[in-house]
Parts: sequence; C-alpha cells; structure tokens
Amino acid sequence: MPQQHRLIANNRRWADKIRAADPEFFAKLSHQQSPEFLWIGCADSRVPANEIVGLMPGEIFVHRNVANVVVHTDLNCLSVIQYAVDVLNVNDIIVCGHYGCGGVTAALANSRQGLVDNWLRHVQDVMRRHEALLAQLADATDRARLLCELNVIEQVVNVCQTTLVQSAWDRGQPLTVRGWIYDIADGLIQDLSMKVGRGDDVGQAQRGALAATAARRARG
Ligand code: CO
Repeated sequence: MPQQHRLIANNRRWADKIRAADPEFFAKLSHQQSPEFLWIGCADSRVPANEIVGLMPGEIFVHRNVANVVVHTDLNCLSVIQYAVDVLNVNDIIVCGHYGCGGVTAALANSRQGLVDNWLRHVQDVMRRHEALLAQLADATDRARLLCELNVIEQVVNVCQTTLVQSAWDRGQPLTVRGWIYDIADGLIQDLSMKVGRGDDVGQAQRGALAATAARRARG
C-alpha cells in the first residue's frame, strides 16, 4: 500500500477516536482557534510539539524549522510571531530546542550537508559568541549539548528583540518568552531558566540562564 494511504487510514481512525470522546470537537474548533501558547521548535520528527506537551489541536500555535532558529529577517517566523501575538493574543512564547539536534551537531562540526549549511550559519554565530565557554568542555557530546542550550537562550533573545514582541510589551500586553530543552533520550523537557516578560532586562535574563547552565553542568 502506498505510504500516503496508510497515513489517510491513520487519519480516519484518529478523527473517529477524537469524535468518540467529544462529538462536537471538530465543530467547535472549526469556528475559531484560541491557543495560549506559541511554540518555536526544531523540525526534527522526534520533537512533535503537541504530543510532548500533551495538547490537543487548537491549544498551541506552532512554528518549526531546522534547529529552532529565530532570524530577524525571516519573514516566515516573524509572521508566525506577529499573528500569534497580535491576533491570537498568546501570552506565552516557548522556544524549545532539543539535545541530539542534528542541525546543532552539524553546525558544531562544520560538516557539509548542502543548502541547510547556510541556515545553520546562525547556529555557528551562537557558537562563536560562546566559543570560550564551549572550549572548556573536552567531550564532543557535552559540547553539542551545551550548544543546544546556548542556541535556545540566544533564540529567546532574538524573539525578545523583534519589533513585534517589543511593541506588545510597549502597549502593556502580558507576554512571556521562555526557553526550554527537550531530551529525545528520555522524553523530558527541562526549563533553561531563560524567561523574559514585560519590564524584564533581556541581558540580565540571559546572564541568569547562562549561570544556570553552568551550575547544571557543575552538578553533572
Ligand atoms: Co533539531
């Protein structure tokens, strides 16, 4: 059976199961969405946003790309943030990276993958910014894990610096941007202590998160 047939068969079973639990589910959702969260995560197939935080369709607005990168000129990501903040009025933006990220590993190793290398230059910018910190780790896996964390922290900073989030804060909209990391080895999310709300100093939050990262590493 061709692959897409299996997926459509899965879809029918899934929709039946949802309707059995709540006959009005799809009818209600078709009128509007009112998610509370915007998730910015990696495109990796092992990190499906809804599933890992146990949310149903309609509960989380999602943007995913390779290595969960937020670039100030990326019209795609900026549009998602704008719609989420201005139209859907989400109160929480979560940047969630993951350990074992192929994009981060490739950036760290400077390996050639093709076009995606250009995208991963943004992760290499993060790497260069924290070169001294990364150089303290002898083990390549440890370095990759640290870069996954640093990448999340830097992307949270990038979200906070967008005119969209700055304007939301200026007009008094409650909005918090936070950084998390997911471990594909145990399915658990860790809070990276990177949390920025209206009136918070982004630089201070970043220093706090870097200190928390160092403390976690010291504990082993
Ligand atoms: Co990834």
